[in-house]
Amino acid sequence: MATSLLQFKPSYLLIALITLLLIPLSSQSSLYPAQTWSLLRIQHLLNYPPILRPWHSNSTFCNLEPDPHFTIVCYSNSVTQLHITGKPFSPSLPKTFSIDSFVTTLTRFPDLKVLSLTSLGLWGPLPAKIARLSNLEILNMSSNFLYGTIPHEISNLTNLQTLILDHNLFNGPLPNWVSSLQLLAVLSLKNNSLNGTLPNSLSSMVSLRIIDLSLNDLSGDVPDLTELTNLEVLDLGNNSFGPQFPKLGVKLVTIVLKNNRFGGSLPSNLESYNFLQRIDVSSNKFVGPFPPSLLSLPSVRYINIAGNRFTGMLFKNTSCNDQLEYVDFSENLLSGTVPSCLDLGSKDKSVFYSQNCLSVMGDPTQHPDPFCQTQALAAGILPEKKRGSKSIEKAIVATCVVVGVVLCALLVGILVLYIFKRKNVRTIVLRPPRKLKENSGSTGNFPQTMTDSRYISPAIKLGALGIPSYRTFSLEEIEAATNNFDTSSFIGECSNGQMYRGSLADGSLVAIRCLKLKKKQASINFRNQIEIISKLRHRHLTSALGHCFEYYLDDSTVSRIFYIFEFVPNGNLRSNISHGVARQRLTWPQRISAAIGVAKGIQFLHGGIIPGLFGNNLKISNVLLDQNFVAKISCYSLPIIEQRMQTETQSEGASNGEKNKADHTDQGEKVDVYDFGVLLLEVLCGRPIQSYYEVGIMKNQLQLSLTGDRAARRRFIDPVVNKSCSDESLKTVMEICMRCLSKEPAQRPSVEDVLWNLQFAAQVLARSCEASPLTPSRSRN
Ligand SMILES: *[C@@H]1O[C@H](CO)[C@@H](O)[C@H](O)[C@H]1NC(C)=O
Ligand SMILES: *[C@@H]1O[C@H](CO)[C@@H](O)[C@H](O)[C@H]1NC(C)=O
Ligand SMILES: *[C@@H]1O[C@H](CO)[C@@H](O)[C@H](O)[C@H]1NC(C)=O
Ligand SMILES: *[C@@H]1O[C@H](CO)[C@@H](O)[C@H](O)[C@H]1NC(C)=O
Ligand SMILES: *[C@@H]1O[C@H](CO)[C@@H](O)[C@H](O)[C@H]1NC(C)=O
Ligand SMILES: *[C@@H]1O[C@H](CO)[C@@H](O)[C@H](O)[C@H]1NC(C)=O
Ligand SMILES: *[C@@H]1O[C@H](CO)[C@@H](O)[C@H](O)[C@H]1NC(C)=O
Repeated sequence: MATSLLQFKPSYLLIALITLLLIPLSSQSSLYPAQTWSLLRIQHLLNYPPILRPWHSNSTFCNLEPDPHFTIVCYSNSVTQLHITGKPFSPSLPKTFSIDSFVTTLTRFPDLKVLSLTSLGLWGPLPAKIARLSNLEILNMSSNFLYGTIPHEISNLTNLQTLILDHNLFNGPLPNWVSSLQLLAVLSLKNNSLNGTLPNSLSSMVSLRIIDLSLNDLSGDVPDLTELTNLEVLDLGNNSFGPQFPKLGVKLVTIVLKNNRFGGSLPSNLESYNFLQRIDVSSNKFVGPFPPSLLSLPSVRYINIAGNRFTGMLFKNTSCNDQLEYVDFSENLLSGTVPSCLDLGSKDKSVFYSQNCLSVMGDPTQHPDPFCQTQALAAGILPEKKRGSKSIEKAIVATCVVVGVVLCALLVGILVLYIFKRKNVRTIVLRPPRKLKENSGSTGNFPQTMTDSRYISPAIKLGALGIPSYRTFSLEEIEAATNNFDTSSFIGECSNGQMYRGSLADGSLVAIRCLKLKKKQASINFRNQIEIISKLRHRHLTSALGHCFEYYLDDSTVSRIFYIFEFVPNGNLRSNISHGVARQRLTWPQRISAAIGVAKGIQFLHGGIIPGLFGNNLKISNVLLDQNFVAKISCYSLPIIEQRMQTETQSEGASNGEKNKADHTDQGEKVDVYDFGVLLLEVLCGRPIQSYYEVGIMKNQLQLSLTGDRAARRRFIDPVVNKSCSDESLKTVMEICMRCLSKEPAQRPSVEDVLWNLQFAAQVLARSCEASPLTPSRSRN
């Protein structure tokens, strides 16, 4: 930045300095001094724990090496994430500790989005002023000694997506106001002393994915949770809930009700829980028949029904899911034999069945049959024989249905294959018939999606962006939206996959990016990747709305990933600059505004998410404009694709514009700056630049015109913007463009520097040119 300042005439230097003071800049990565001071104050209030030893008054906190005990993330000179993790089982801080001063200090970080302060020995009632951190999205204060009720003011944290207060001493009820947190996806309050019943408002918290209230003193019936269609994990273990089995949606992955007071029999719709992986209803007062169909649910791995009074016959030929790892039938009233599919003696399955009436050779814990019958009678359950024969009938019916579905699916599969062969539709990947069968049995997507999406933090800046929160889409939804990937919905090829236009059931338009994975890549753990993608939401990006996985059926690895992005309707930057009649093309202020938008988008990709995304293969045709001409980068790099594309880009790099690309993959930031320079070149001259060769020619012309006079510059610039009033504005952009195109990556400016110069260009323009048709965007994003 210093060099570009020196090139200005003295009067502009003054303007530049004033501008520097006026525009909030993000060009330094150093922290606001007040925040540095507050971090040191935190260290002091925590009594200088050894884990914070590296914190000194001379530390540049935003650049501290990552450490397992603390992480600080900054954006625009302000702390956005603060994680401090003490040693496990840290004792409480001394008597002199003041939670009130501590939280007051925290409120000095107004931009905090993620606050994680765990195992630090914090003690006292949680002060209400924590609610001043109105941008908080994730709050994790597990394993401390916080007590009293959870302050009502937390209901004001309307951006909160994750609230974790596990292993504390909170008491009182779970308050009704919790439903004000409409974006909340994770509610985890386990191992506290909460008591009373659950509020009915819980039924309306539709974003919830995880509810963990285990190890409290909560009681009563659980409110109806069927509306919580995103709910995947419900852990209510070790409370006094009951007697009704909770009403739940069918998408649950984990249901833990152990050690409560539930009674009655299991609901019959458990058989349709196709995503259920773990069910633990042990140590309750359940009665009635154990449904053997649980053993063969498509995703099930863990079943624990121990310590109830379940009755019924088990048969040698009962079928079960291959993935079952743990089954505990102990202490029930079951008779018959242990199903052979449970493979007793196998090392990868744990099966327990003691204290029933099963016929197992040499097991002294098994009771004689009559014992179970009497007990069952005593519990008011129908006699064993009747029950047994009934479940056989059920099993037969179920088997017939399954066989029918398989046959039917095979037929459909053959038919579909035939139709597609005829239509010769491109890019369709046919699922084998087995997969069709599985699909027909489920309403959503496959189980792993659930486990992955558990970690999604949705709706980053939802309000500001006005787009729906991030979510998982089902394959059916994607297929319906694109009319089964019809050629008419194909909109183009990103460097890394096809792009389709889709129309969702609610009528909204989306862009769907499709990535096919090779078997080898399919075993990647997608959790982190999806977490990053869910954060790709910014005013100057085509923001991510969700994703969808398609699985190989045989080993349930991922075969295709679909990313769903917002659809941006107004064409791309190139078509708005170099196509069409002159008066429809963007004016100079609009062009600067678009360029500033793109630079802000790049800045966000590099520094607004962790880890940053570099090497985004930025192209002017991939910058889309919305109805207000706000520029949005599309086709930017995605973390999963990145790994795959690395090798491919190296071979195609040279044709793609920039020779340095392959040599400097580690210099991703400067690669993006170069590509931005190419984009700016086209914005300036108003003609499509299609090849590396053309970039070279235009760059030489730019250089010549910069060394010449005002007229020489005017000859280079697109005639459409020539009428524009500020020469200084044009010159500033031309200069920064030249620097972006430097051969040596090290000589290219930083994104901050670019942005600063563009904002300067907008500023001088606004000053000298009152009647500009569109004032350049100055939003802080
Ligand atoms: C920062 O301060 C600490 C302690 O005062 C000192 O040991 C260290 O050398 C200083 N580092 C720098 C870069 O000044
Ligand atoms: C919350 O903190 C605990 C303890 O450090 C950690 O195990 C857990 O993963 C954290 N949860 C989230 C969602 O960050
Ligand atoms: C919540 O926020 C509103 C407005 O931002 C404020 O008026 C109200 O006092 C706050 N409530 C609490 C309990 O902090
Ligand atoms: C519950 O929290 C206490 C501290 O409050 C801890 O000592 C205990 O280990 C926790 N129990 C479980 C099961 O995590
Ligand atoms: C909850 O516990 C508090 C004491 O910790 C007690 O005063 C209150 O009555 C309890 N509430 C219920 C509903 O049990
Ligand atoms: C949960 O409750 C059961 C039965 O009351 C008890 O045996 C078990 O220790 C409890 N678990 C924990 C982690 O406290
Ligand atoms: C399973 O075995 C029982 C008796 O052992 C028999 O009555 C039943 O028909 C068998 N069921 C199937 C599906 O083979």
